[in-house]
Amino acid sequence: MVLEDFRCYAAQEVSFDPVCNVISGENAQGKTNLLEAMVCLAAGKSHRTRSDRELVRFQREGFQLEGTIFSRDREFVSHIAYGYGKKKRITVNKAPVKSASDLSQVLNTVFFCPEDLQLIREGAAARRRFMDASLCQLRPRYAAALTEYQRLFEHKTRILRDSGEKPDLLAALPEFSLRMAETGAVLIHYRARFAGLLAELAAAAHRECSGGRERLEIRYQTVKTVEDPLADHSALVERLLDHQQSHAQAELAARQCLSGPHKDDLEVLLGGLSARSYASQGQTRTAALAMKLAAREIHREILGEYPVLLLDDVLSELDPKRQEFVLNRIAGGQVFITCCEDDRLGRLLNGKIFRVREGTIE
Ligand SMILES: Nc1ncnc2c1ncn2[C@@H]1O[C@H](COP(=O)(O)OP(=O)(O)O)[C@@H](O)[C@H]1O
Ligand SMILES: [Mg+2]
Repeated sequence: MVLEDFRCYAAQEVSFDPVCNVISGENAQGKTNLLEAMVCLAAGKSHRTRSDRELVRFQREGFQLEGTIFSRDREFVSHIAYGYGKKKRITVNKAPVKSASDLSQVLNTVFFCPEDLQLIREGAAARRRFMDASLCQLRPRYAAALTEYQRLFEHKTRILRDSGEKPDLLAALPEFSLRMAETGAVLIHYRARFAGLLAELAAAAHRECSGGRERLEIRYQTVKTVEDPLADHSALVERLLDHQQSHAQAELAARQCLSGPHKDDLEVLLGGLSARSYASQGQTRTAALAMKLAAREIHREILGEYPVLLLDDVLSELDPKRQEFVLNRIAGGQVFITCCEDDRLGRLLNGKIFRVREGTIE
């Protein structure tokens, strides 16, 4: 991998181990930034900021990333170049890439960091982001539908917002509602299947990790009128239109989109109780970990290959029992683990150790 003016890296070339890589160093040296560069190569954008400009090294004009990636029995060279005033250019084997979903045909990642406790603790948006990030990598059609849905959602929101002053705008509303129902049905189709697999695999991981003491349940929650989210496309569209109709007046009054899968959630229960309200710190950590490891398994089931696992500062925070559980689970794919205390973990993992200091890998 080559990094140029990316975050705190000026110019860095580095080759990784195909199995296990331990990235060690003190705080604020560039460990997370290195993982972020990998996420960018996999997804075309960062997981922690929407602004590409933020990724450019201070006082510089742009950044470049290049990764040589072995996947699906082939070698790919992915390249991202971004400069102020210029559109971001992404190529794979020198051919321009149109959308991030094309990139997902090359490299997939599952990222886990301490903030992922939000998966359990925070509102529905965190769990939707998790589903979206996984599904966009797994299903190009989902990624396309999500982009389209967001476009329609923003447009419909503008219509509702501005309709007070310009009532003419409302003429376009039925058209937007229909297209949102059609696109929304595609999202529900994939989310329902993903949630089913996730429920099964996360429960198994959680059982193992908690010594069989706790039962983790995950349930997909979508638009109320959709009784069976696994129903076929036309049935889903119909149910979504029903819901829209019954909320049409309320939407006009609130001047907001109130109906559609943009409010979907995953309900997470531990021993029958809402994890969001009742789980302890340790339980929260185990449940979030189980969900991430389950996502990794789903990727393998669907794509036949493990995604690259990026563990940012999580291992050292786990107690020895959970550490051992993770270490036993991560065999099979390529792993990157960041930590401060390198030697013990490095020996434990038998991985290649990289020391990061002030934006340089030694
Ligand atoms: N665009 C940027 N240009 C230069 N330095 C940056 C940029 N963005 C972040 N940094 C610096 O990178 C450092 C943090 O790196 P990070 O990878 O998060 O550290 P850690 O090793 O603790 O994971 C901080 O010192 C921050 O100021
Ligand atoms: Mg960090």
